[in-house]
Amino acid sequence: MLILIQPDEAGVATYAYEWLRQRIQRKPRLVLGLATGSTPLRLYRAMVEGYQRGELDFSEVITFNLDEYVGLSRHHPRSFYRFMHEHLFSHVNLRPENIHFLDGLPDDVEAHCEAYEAAIRAAGGIDVQILGIGRDGHIGFNEPTSSLCSRTRDKVLTRETIEDNRRFFGPGEEVPRWALTMGVGTILEAREILLLACGPAKARAVAAMAEGPVTALCPASALQLHPRVTVVCDEAAAAALQYQEYYRWIQANDYRLHEVVQKAKQARDTQPDH
Ligand code: GLP
Repeated sequence: MLILIQPDEAGVATYAYEWLRQRIQRKPRLVLGLATGSTPLRLYRAMVEGYQRGELDFSEVITFNLDEYVGLSRHHPRSFYRFMHEHLFSHVNLRPENIHFLDGLPDDVEAHCEAYEAAIRAAGGIDVQILGIGRDGHIGFNEPTSSLCSRTRDKVLTRETIEDNRRFFGPGEEVPRWALTMGVGTILEAREILLLACGPAKARAVAAMAEGPVTALCPASALQLHPRVTVVCDEAAAAALQYQEYYRWIQANDYRLHEVVQKAKQARDTQPDH
């Protein structure tokens, strides 16, 4: 797990945008897993601006969102589908047929979730999964005690998550108690994962995810089992990390690895007896 600490939220978004831009430019038909919540909003704004500048083209990109509330139709103002439309989909040239979303009003939950998994497989699997993290260490809507092998399914939300999400709902509006979500196992199959975390409320979850034991009590800790996870967080979200100094040390030195090897090779090659 590569942990990059940025000074603030803007720095997190700038890094995340650059990371993603390289991947979309390298593979125009990128299969991109997307998350909702307030954390990726700046990244989505940067993606829209990148598209407007002509830097990014989404015409071949395929998206799969992580989750959706049960009981809300696509057009419900608080559905994650609407959220993604407002913040990303309607501002870039993604093809509607390339946007995949779980349906909050499925006729048959199990069949619908299986079909979602099949659609991910048919697209060739997720290349890049963007994640946020809940205060309780959830990813997608995989709440604590979720199986670390779980697949796309329905989940009952914790009271804490319901309260955290209340801010997106109007006064007196009921916050859904159920969601459909990709499972932890589904997420772990993505080829690369970029997790973003900002603010002091995430500090405990970030530390548990990166440095705690791998446990269903912190579903994000399962990411320790994935070989290609990049965590980009701001100072506040990094505050409880025990190995902070080491992560900063890596950040300061890692990009020079190539340079150091090149220099050492040049030195070796100029030795008369090499
Ligand atoms: C919701 C979403 C998650 C998201 C989390 C954190 O529960 N299902 O995908 O990571 O909220 O949201 P925020 O970024 O607003 O803190």
